Parts: sequence; C-alpha cells; structure tokens
Amino acid sequence: MKGQIHTAHRHDSALKHVTGQALYIDDIAEPPGTLHAALVLSPIASGRLKKLDLSAAASSPDVVAVFAASDIPGLNNIASPGKQEPLFAEDKVEHAGQPLAMVVAHSLDAARAAAERVKPDIEPTEAILDVQTALAKQAYVQAPSTILRGDPDAALKTAPHTLTAEFSVGGQEHFYLEGQIAFALPGEDGDLLVHSSTQHPTEVQHICAQVLGCEYNRVTTMVRRLGGGFGGKESNASWVAAAAALAAAKTGKPVKLRLPREIDIIATGKRHGFDYRYTVGFDDQGRVLALDAVLAADAGFSLDMTPGVVARALTHIDNAYWIPHVRAVGYSCRTNKQSNTAFRGFGGPQGVLVMEDAIDRIAHRLGRDANEVRALNFYGPAGDETPYGQKIEENHLPRCWAEVKQLGDWQRRRSEVDAFNKANPVLKRGLGLFPLKFGISFNLPHLNQAGALVHVYTDGSIRLNHGGTEMGQGLFIKVAQVVAEVFKVDIDRIRPSATSTAEVPNTSPTAASTGSDLNGWAAWDAANAIRQRMVAFAAEHFGVATDDIEFADGNVRIAKPGSNQVMSFGEMAKLCYMGRVPLSSTGYYKTPKIHWDGVAMRGHPFFYFSFGAAMAEVAVDTLTGESRVLRADLVQDCGASLNPAIDLGQIEGAFVQGQGWLTCEELWWDKQGRLRTIGPSTYKIPGSRDVPVVFNVKMLENAPSREATIFRSKAVGEPPLLLATAVWTALKDAIAAAGDHKQAVRLDAPATPERVLAAIETVRTAAQ
Ligand code: MTE
Ligand code: MOS
Repeated sequence: MKGQIHTAHRHDSALKHVTGQALYIDDIAEPPGTLHAALVLSPIASGRLKKLDLSAAASSPDVVAVFAASDIPGLNNIASPGKQEPLFAEDKVEHAGQPLAMVVAHSLDAARAAAERVKPDIEPTEAILDVQTALAKQAYVQAPSTILRGDPDAALKTAPHTLTAEFSVGGQEHFYLEGQIAFALPGEDGDLLVHSSTQHPTEVQHICAQVLGCEYNRVTTMVRRLGGGFGGKESNASWVAAAAALAAAKTGKPVKLRLPREIDIIATGKRHGFDYRYTVGFDDQGRVLALDAVLAADAGFSLDMTPGVVARALTHIDNAYWIPHVRAVGYSCRTNKQSNTAFRGFGGPQGVLVMEDAIDRIAHRLGRDANEVRALNFYGPAGDETPYGQKIEENHLPRCWAEVKQLGDWQRRRSEVDAFNKANPVLKRGLGLFPLKFGISFNLPHLNQAGALVHVYTDGSIRLNHGGTEMGQGLFIKVAQVVAEVFKVDIDRIRPSATSTAEVPNTSPTAASTGSDLNGWAAWDAANAIRQRMVAFAAEHFGVATDDIEFADGNVRIAKPGSNQVMSFGEMAKLCYMGRVPLSSTGYYKTPKIHWDGVAMRGHPFFYFSFGAAMAEVAVDTLTGESRVLRADLVQDCGASLNPAIDLGQIEGAFVQGQGWLTCEELWWDKQGRLRTIGPSTYKIPGSRDVPVVFNVKMLENAPSREATIFRSKAVGEPPLLLATAVWTALKDAIAAAGDHKQAVRLDAPATPERVLAAIETVRTAAQ
C-alpha cells in the first residue's frame, strides 16, 4: 500500500512547492474590480492621536476609499472575547507600527503611495521600551503568575551552596516566506468569503464578524495552505483578515490586503524576549535542592497570547530535572512595542534556559562536568511530579541522553575539543549537551478538540477535510495517511481539501504541535464511522458475519467459507451507494486526561511529554566573536512516527530555527522605540551555510507513545526547536575556554558576534 502510516512519504505538495505551482493567496485569480489595501502605521511608540487627516490619501490617484476606527460598523476590537486590542488606534497610540488607518485603491502601488501621504498628528508620551523599566513601573499586561512547590526560601537557607545569576534572551521575528495576507470577497446578503493565511480559521471568522457586527454564519474562512506560520499567524492573521473584510464589506468589492515585508515586521508581534534572575541551591554533588526564579517577558503593548506563553515558560522551568523546592514567578511586562505572540515553542524555549544556565554555573562552582550534573538531576524513570503537579508517566530522558552521547561520540570529542583549545589561542571550540522534555497539549483545556469531515465517492475516491491548517509542516499528508489506513487504500485515493469554517466549524488553531494528534484522531473517527457502515451493509448483503469483511490493499474481501470474493474499494463504495448507505461522516476528538487551574498553576496540562537530546559543537573566533556550528547530533522522540520523512524535516528545520533565535537573529529598536531590523539585510535569519556542517538526526526507535495517541505517534512541530539550546551551551563552553575555564560565563542571547566578544572580554578580564 502506497503511503502507509509509519512510512516515509513525501509532502503532498512537495513538488508544487519546489516548482512554484503551489497556490498561495496572492496566486488566486483576482475577479474584475478587485481592490488593494495598504495600512497607515504610527511612527511613534507612545502618544495621543490628536488628528488623523486622511484627505491627502483619499484624494490620491486611483484611491477608492479610506478607513479609520470611526468607520468600523461593529467593534474596533481584534482580540478574542474578554480582551481588547483595537484594529485601528483611536486616541491612544501604543507602539511604533500600530495601524491607524487603511487606504483602498485600484492598484497596490496606488494604495501604498497614498498611505504614505498620511501624516498623523501624534503627541508623544513617555514610552516604556524595555522589560526592566516595565518591572520598575509595575507595568504589566496581566498580573504576575507563580508556580510554587515546597518551601524554596527555607531550602535555599539550608542548602550547602547557592548562587544567583541573571541573563536575558531576545525575541524572534517569524520570517515566514509568505507574509501576512487576506483576500475578502463579498457575496449576497452580507456574506463574506475570506481567504486568509491563518493558523486559526475560526478566529478569523470570529474577528471579522466582530469587526463587521454580523453573525458568524455570514463569514467563511478558507485556508488551502500557509507559506509558513510558526505561530505568527495564530492571532496576527485575524486582524489582517478583519481589515480586508471591513474594506470588502464597505466597498462591496473583493479586497486584498498583503503586508509588504517591512510593514509585516513592524506591525506584527514576535517571540517574547525574556529577562531572568534566579537563585539556585545545591549540594556538594551538584544535586539541585531549590530554585527561586523570576522570568520577565516582554509582552509588548497588549495581552494577545502572553498568558499562554508565560504559563508555558513556567511549566517548562523544570525542563528535564527534578527540583524539590521551586518558586518561578512570571511577569508579563507591558512595553510600547509590537504585541508579542506565539512562536514555535510558545514560551517553552524561554523557560528551559534557566536550569540550563544554572547547571552550567553549578558545575563550574563545584569543578564538575556540567553534563554529569545534568544527568544527576534528571527526573526518575516514572512517577516523579513536576512542580505544577503532573506525574511523569513515561520518561525517555535516560535513553535519549545515552543515545545522543553515543551518536555524537561524546567522550572522544570532549577530549579532542579540550586538546584543540590547548593548542589554539585564537580559535576556541565548545561542546554543549541538552536534554529535552516538552509538554504536548494546549494549556487551555477547551482548545484540545478537533473535527473532521470525510466523504467517500462512488468511484472509491475520498475527500478529506479537517480543522487543521497546512503550513508546510506536513499535517495534510499525515492525516491522509491515517484515513488511508482506516480504509486500507493507497494514499493517492485521498484528496485533502482546503480548511474551511463552512466544512468543519468551531475549530482550534493549528498550534501547540497538536495538529496531527487532534485532527488525525478526528479524521480517524469520521473514516471509521463510514467503514463500519460499509462493513455492516456488506455483511448483510453477502449474508456473512461482519468479521468476514476485510479491507486490504485497496480491496474489500468477503471471506465467507467457501467463497472468497474480492472487489475493489470503489466497487464496494458503489455497492453501498446502491444500497443507500451514507458514505459521508463527520468525526470528532477531544484529548483525554487534561485539566489545568490557571490561577493556582496546577493540574495535568499535558496529555504526554516529548523527549529528546542534543549535542552541538561550535567554533568561536576570539578576535571577532564570530561563531559557527560545526556539528549537531540530535535524538528526538516522535513516538511511532506517522511519517519519518516529514518528522525528519520538522526536526532539522526546528533546530536551525532555534539556532537562529539563540545566535544571529537580533531585533533592534532605536531610542524612539522604532524597530530597525525590518528585512533580511538587517535581520539575519540562518542561511544554508549556518546549517551545522555535520548534522546527524535520529528518531528514538521503538518508542511508541504510552498514551493512546493516533497510532502511538507523538507531536514533533515545536519540541526540536528547543534542542538548539545545546548551541548556546556550547558557545558558553567555548567562551569559558577562552578564559581557561576560570570563570562562569554569562551569555545573553542572541549570541551575536558583539555579545560573544563582550563575554570573552569579561571572562578574560576576570581571569587575570
Ligand atoms: N513547519 C513548517 N514548515 N512551517 C510552519 O509554519 N510551524 C510550527 C511547526 N512546524 C511550522 C512548522 C509550529 S509553531 C507549530 S505549533 C506546528 O508546526 C503546528 O503544526 P502541527 O501541530 O501540525 O505540528
Ligand atoms: Mo505554534 S507557536 O504553537 O503556532
């Protein structure tokens, strides 16, 4: 059978991606009369909008209409229920790049030229541009949240050793290849079809309806594919769509809003940067006894997804380690910057850095090997509880750790790197190891549900629809493999179709790496319902027991003793139709076992954990601060992978994206709070030459999920991004070598050449 589950099968759009034939929203044929929109943005980070004169734009050539807050028929609110964030600023401006108005014209060039002619009158007010200022002013987008276990104060007092440290990590621009875009087409009676590059079609539907002041049933969202989302199109796509919907509803014409790269970067949220301060207590061996940590996230100007991001950072503070007494406080700092949002890992990558930093420092203090200290602190085989009260039922940490050290030939390379460093005064090498534990599920329990819709046609071809969106991660092929498995047909017989709120309603975002877990089961449920009907009908029709009906290799066999009739799946579908059997079904799934108290920060927020381990080797030039990743060895737990080819791509891509976050991707705002890294010339994402020269990726073998996940597979979208932490650790190791390991290293991320150079100077000065 072609494309069976658990076998490597290429992405359904792979050839279309590389030949340019895959259709994105900007490729959809434009009906006559299509209009194009451009945004007017605030150049000021914080201020009062005194006057917004749009007449210069309105009178520009080819301009059809201009819209500002007062033109909105529904609510000027693009946030989900209970939150407030304006589509267009009214009196208050809260970040440089905030949308103020929109121009709609016959051509894109005309719209953009007219938008640039608007000169808003904004009276600047004092802006908060960094986390430390926000902390000092207690400017938060939500109250601080705390995970607490035991008595960390007492445990720190009695601990044989303690140490305190601070560091920070920057944010990250998503840099999806396809920018934010929406194309809204008005129909009859106020109906609206919105093509949106979104991870969350249902939220696009809701926000469009909220802005237009209409019922949800008037708006249909369609998503065939995204040219990358990475979390950046979970909430941000909704306001782009709402703006296009507003213009389409007002003008009665199809309207497309596509953000040019620099506007996309200026106007949309990013990964949250974090500042950290912690005190850790430990014994003579390096066993951690207590942790008291403060994590301060740069939320930007509004709430957006910050509660979830901070909660995930706090629930990943333990990473792989058993910590008896913990206090971790998360601050969501309000700054006059883009409202930060979901980004692959969703706070998890920021959370795990604390213990990795702490362990490096503990090892340095005690003169021990940091990686022995890591392993010493691992969670036990099963039954240990996380600081938020979830028991760890399955623990692959020891296996992943042993395998990665073998794959990377740890012992030999440790001594080689040390020998290299002794012999080379200018170039220094470093090695880093990282153990991974990542929780899978949304920590808002209600989001952990999914629906699907499967049709079997009378030629045996199958149409598949579900609530998940395809953004390159291979969700469609994985779910198609599940359906092919139920009917035992070739994958070619399954046609995945564009995600649509009209086919499967009330969906959750494709996020938190849960896409294939949730939609795989929902599609299985739909397909299985049809299969059961087919079996029941065939048994009756042929006068046999249901056990005698077998689906195999694209056929249906009637294994009645004596007869051994075989027909194709299509013939059976036709026969069922003639027998008036419905060949279409919805399917549904909700994740079992999960619960979460977001105030007490306790519960069982994750259905299961994904595990992994990484080993990285870097080289640092101590004269320039430049660095390279020479080699990375990764072991990732994918359970029983649904599709090892897709999962391999996810692991490699996530690792390099994480590497970019921690090394070269630097967001830089000027003193006025204007983001200046707004394109690939100033914002450096990793290129092909940044991929580790030697890159060995292995999936943990014979590790089917202990929980009833879809065919015992595990989520893979985000966890391997965290494996790049090994690069940061390796850089610290190389920098420490530059100071003869006399000094523990503080290395803020991204570890750009400037920061690496400064860290080298610090350790060398301290060593003298
Ligand atoms: N892979 C590609 N190619 N493009 C993307 O935008 N997004 C990542 C990950 N892998 C992304 C990707 C993020 S942030 C998530 S949450 C998951 O895919 C979502 O898809 P899944 O749940 O189906 O894994
Ligand atoms: Mo992914 S950050 O959960 O979209």
